[in-house]
Amino acid sequence: MKKTEILVLDFGSQYTQLLARRIRECEVLAEVVNLNISVAKIKTYQDLKGIILSGGPSSVYETDAYKIDQGIFELGIPILGVCYGMQLMVHEFGGVVELADAQEFGKATITISNNKSLLFKNITKETTVWMSHADHVTTVPDGFIVEAQSDNSIAAIANQEKKLYGIQFHPEVTHSIDGGKMIQNFLFEVCQCEATWKISNFITEAVNEIKKTVGQDEVILGLSGGVDSSVAAALISKAIGKQLTCIFVDTGLLRKDEGKKVLAAYQKNFELNIKMVAAQDQFYTSLKGYCDPEDKRKIIGREFVNVFANEAKQMQAAKFLAQGTIYPDVIESSSDGHTSKTIKSHHNVGGLPKDLNFTLLEPLRTLFKDEVRKVGLELGLPPEMVYRHPFPGPGLGIRVIEEVTKEKCDILREADDIFISELYRENLYNDVSQAFVTLLPTKTVGVMGDNRTYDYVAAIRCVNTIDFMTATATHLPWDFLDRVTNRIINEVDGINRVVYDITSKPPGTIEWE
Ligand code: XMP
Repeated sequence: MKKTEILVLDFGSQYTQLLARRIRECEVLAEVVNLNISVAKIKTYQDLKGIILSGGPSSVYETDAYKIDQGIFELGIPILGVCYGMQLMVHEFGGVVELADAQEFGKATITISNNKSLLFKNITKETTVWMSHADHVTTVPDGFIVEAQSDNSIAAIANQEKKLYGIQFHPEVTHSIDGGKMIQNFLFEVCQCEATWKISNFITEAVNEIKKTVGQDEVILGLSGGVDSSVAAALISKAIGKQLTCIFVDTGLLRKDEGKKVLAAYQKNFELNIKMVAAQDQFYTSLKGYCDPEDKRKIIGREFVNVFANEAKQMQAAKFLAQGTIYPDVIESSSDGHTSKTIKSHHNVGGLPKDLNFTLLEPLRTLFKDEVRKVGLELGLPPEMVYRHPFPGPGLGIRVIEEVTKEKCDILREADDIFISELYRENLYNDVSQAFVTLLPTKTVGVMGDNRTYDYVAAIRCVNTIDFMTATATHLPWDFLDRVTNRIINEVDGINRVVYDITSKPPGTIEWE
């Protein structure tokens, strides 16, 4: 079974997940949990070695400020409060937190005053950290000492006897130069964690668990060609081989040769039953006449469920429906009041009719995306598949602007294929986060040879981003853009003009829709 050694109680900081990832990078399994977790629930974690209280936007002195079960501080388990987490700890132990005159946002230098500090072991006396706070600690509670200070605030406190630590800054952000070392110190010096979280262990354990859960039953999985469902399929197939059947629906809204490529990759690497369902006409017919992006999304989602449910009905023996749900999809978030979501909301098969009565099988639900990729590589999936850019569920349905037709999808597929293959050729593909072509509904005049043309405009989109919540347009080399443009106009019938979208997100989104 998995050994969760660290719990991160989520107070709603934008960095909470990053914190859990940084801990996992140290081969220690950290889980993000709701701040309302009870002491009784915490006690069920048998391998628990430490607790981290994350940052968050609230202020401890407000009446509705986030609080935790008081008993958590009495468990004798080491606790690290980060930013709001530290302020909460101070407040609970009788210290004072106030709105600061000089609020700190961004880089700050801290000076470490306790040279015996476990948290700052082997770290230089002065170091740069990332601050993001309006409130600060002005009086440290009894039993605590100040371990580090910035120009404007108490940066770190400790009560070694009770194993309670607090830091005002964010060690998980790369701008905190020694942040990684501080996290390691907390894990290994303070909590005495064992580094047991290894991808190979995860695979062995997941395979055993899938075997045990599925027994002799059958499993179906909707394969999209995306990373998550591909890795889930590979993992389940390693466990139960031909008891898994993958259903691949060709919606007509896929990229060039997508079905063929997916099939080839699996046939080469795995023993897998794959059922290809050709449903292009059904999708094109349903989409006829619709221009509004939300309408198109609904239609595509509905048709997908219809096709998938129809296939599933024919597989009477299948008891399980497998999904590539990953950790960020299920994570309990306190900031927005959500509890764990069981089905990825944008997973098309999430809306399957209840009478199909499947049990969900989600073997990747504890993993972050980068961990999913590592599992994929270790299982032998080709790197092109594991490092593929995200592709939206509704596919080309939202990349053909306004009405979607087969003719437009065919044009777009060719243009997109040229852009993507040029990115690979120039070794740029893996340096950018997402790249694609969008087909505009506008036709413009052009000239080719001696002839006047009147064809569509294609927009190239290429962005860099960490979390897809914000993004900037990639500064692609001009020569490269020039070549892609020439190739698209010369080789794709139906496009006579190419534009490059340099809008950031926000205010733009990544997809045009
Ligand atoms: P936007 O356009 O909102 O996109 O900036 C952010 C990221 O989400 C992807 N995206 C989707 N992914 N189902 C998905 O699985 C969808 O319906 C969907 N819509 C957008 C988009 O490609 C980008 O990576």
